[in-house]
Amino acid sequence: MTDSLLRLRREGAARLQAAGIENPRAECDWLLCRALGCTQTELLLSAKADSRAQSRFTELIDRRAAGEPVQYLLGEWEFCGLPFFVGEGVLIPRPETEILAEYAVTLLKGQAQPVAVDLCAGTGCIGLTIACRVPSAHVYLVEKSPAAFAYLERNRNRPGMVNTTLLQGDILTDALPEIPQCDVLCVNPPYIPADEMPTLQREVLREPAMALDGGADGLDFYRAIAKRWAPRVKPGGVILPELGDGQYDAVRRIFADIGCAVSAIPDNAGHLRVLVAKNHIKGESRICF
Ligand SMILES: C[S@@+](CC[C@H](N)C(=O)[O-])C[C@H]1O[C@@H](n2cnc3c(N)ncnc32)[C@H](O)[C@@H]1O
Repeated sequence: MTDSLLRLRREGAARLQAAGIENPRAECDWLLCRALGCTQTELLLSAKADSRAQSRFTELIDRRAAGEPVQYLLGEWEFCGLPFFVGEGVLIPRPETEILAEYAVTLLKGQAQPVAVDLCAGTGCIGLTIACRVPSAHVYLVEKSPAAFAYLERNRNRPGMVNTTLLQGDILTDALPEIPQCDVLCVNPPYIPADEMPTLQREVLREPAMALDGGADGLDFYRAIAKRWAPRVKPGGVILPELGDGQYDAVRRIFADIGCAVSAIPDNAGHLRVLVAKNHIKGESRICF
C-alpha cells in the first residue's frame, strides 16, 4: 500500500474512532474502497488515490462520522449472500431477517410452482432472495413508499429475478387483486412502538420512519395482516411475520385467534424472531431452526 493510502487509512480510522463508530478500521477500509472504486484486495496490493479519490474519501468519512449509516454510503449491502442496492429512503436489510428468508426458501423448495408474497418489501431482500433461490416460485412483492419502491425495482433488475411481480401499494388499504392465493406469505412489517421511535440509535433514525413505526403498541401491521392477508393464504399455507423483541406472545395471540397453528423460530441470541402461522389449523407448538 502506498504511503499516501496508509496515511488516509490511518487518519480515516482515527476520525471514525473519535466519532464513536464501533468498527472504525473495517468501515474505514470499506469507505476507502468505495472512494477508490476498488476491491479490498486491490486496496492492499495495487490501489492509488488521486486527489479526487482523496476528497471523495474525506467526504465519506465526514458523513459517516456525522451518523450516516455506512450501508447508505457504500450503496450496497449483502443479504443471504446476495447484493442489494440501499440508500436514503429504504430500510437496510438486517442479518436477523435472513432467518425468515431462509425458512421461506426451505418451505417452498419442494413445491411445484408455488406462489410467495413479500409484503412491506423494502429493498426486496426477502422476496428477491426467494425468487433467486426457488426459480420455480412466482414471488409478488408489495411496497408503499415511492423511495423504497425505486430500490426494489433496481434490485429486481439484477439478473435471475424474472419470476417476480412488483406492486406499489398500501397493504393496509389496497385490495391488490393481482396477487393470487399464496403458499407462503412473508412480512417484515414496521413494528417499533411509536413512543420508542425517538430513542432509536442515531443511524437507525436516518432510516425511514415509515419502515419502523408500528403504531402505538407496535402491532398495527400484525393485526391488519391477520385480518386482510391471512384469507389470501391457501389452507395449509404459511404466514411468516418477523417479530420485534418481546412481541411473540402478543403476535402469537393475534394469529391463533384467527385459527392458525402457531410456532416460532429463535435467532442466535434465543429471541423468538419469526412467527410461523399455519393457516386455518388450530394449536400451538415451538420449533427450533
Ligand atoms: C421493516 S421494513 C422491511 C423492509 C424489508 N422487507 C426488509 O426486511 O428489509 C417495512 C417496509 O414496509 C413499508 N411499508 C410501510 N407501510 C406500508 C404499507 N402500508 N403498505 C406497504 N408497505 C409499507 C416500508 O416502506 C418499509 O419498506
